[in-house]
Amino acid sequence: MERNAFNIAIDGPAGAGKSTIARQVARELEFVYVDTGAMYRAIALYFLRKGVAGTDEAAVSSQVGEAGITIRYQDGTQQVLLNGEDVSGEIRTEAVGNMASAVSAYPAVRAHLLGLQRSLAAGTDVIMDGRDIGTCVLPEADLKVFLSASSAVRAKRRFKELTEKGVACNLQEIEQDIIERDKRDMNREIAPLKQAEDAVYLDSSNLTIEQVVEAIITAAFSKGLNLSGAGGEDFSVEEEG
Ligand code: DC
Repeated sequence: MERNAFNIAIDGPAGAGKSTIARQVARELEFVYVDTGAMYRAIALYFLRKGVAGTDEAAVSSQVGEAGITIRYQDGTQQVLLNGEDVSGEIRTEAVGNMASAVSAYPAVRAHLLGLQRSLAAGTDVIMDGRDIGTCVLPEADLKVFLSASSAVRAKRRFKELTEKGVACNLQEIEQDIIERDKRDMNREIAPLKQAEDAVYLDSSNLTIEQVVEAIITAAFSKGLNLSGAGGEDFSVEEEG
């Protein structure tokens, strides 16, 4: 018998390890991993390229409809298309991340992506990560996880990631950036970064990736996940507004 789709929401601050962990959980459970930060980043890139300031809410809100976002899966990997162009690589910079944090505070930007996010989860086993998945996007998710870590640990992780990519960076600046981004994400009026009341709280500061992955998988089974008859195929979904 067909079972209902199982949705896992994973929220938390920048650099807590959400994407690494969600990707790994998705692989082990054969779920689709949906990275919602990538959608905000693609919109941020649109405005960076256009030269619109992140502080200009009126311009961002009136033009966000021009940024067509499509999510495509190829071999289980999410790709983000901005008006048909694959920008999955280009959105991974600190500048795009900071711009994403700024524009994601605007209701028009969030409304632009909500339908796309919900339609990706409808009828599909997904693990979706972001800031407001458990509180706003998928309030009925079967399992909600709030993943955090100290800002020092998160800064070290990001420093290591960037250094390995050959990007010159400064640990203190990264930590400062993370603290500011958290503050912005937690204090905005709409859909702020917040733990859902029914979320499982995990602090990854002193845990390995494997330990966190294991904890989430165990929690999913305890919430009734029954792995039979699942399967991931390549597909794509576009936002409609
Ligand atoms: O997870 P990330 O670093 O790729 O996210 C970039 C920014 O996008 C983040 O600072 C806040 C915003 N964001 C959001 O507001 N809501 C989400 N569900 C995901 C990301």
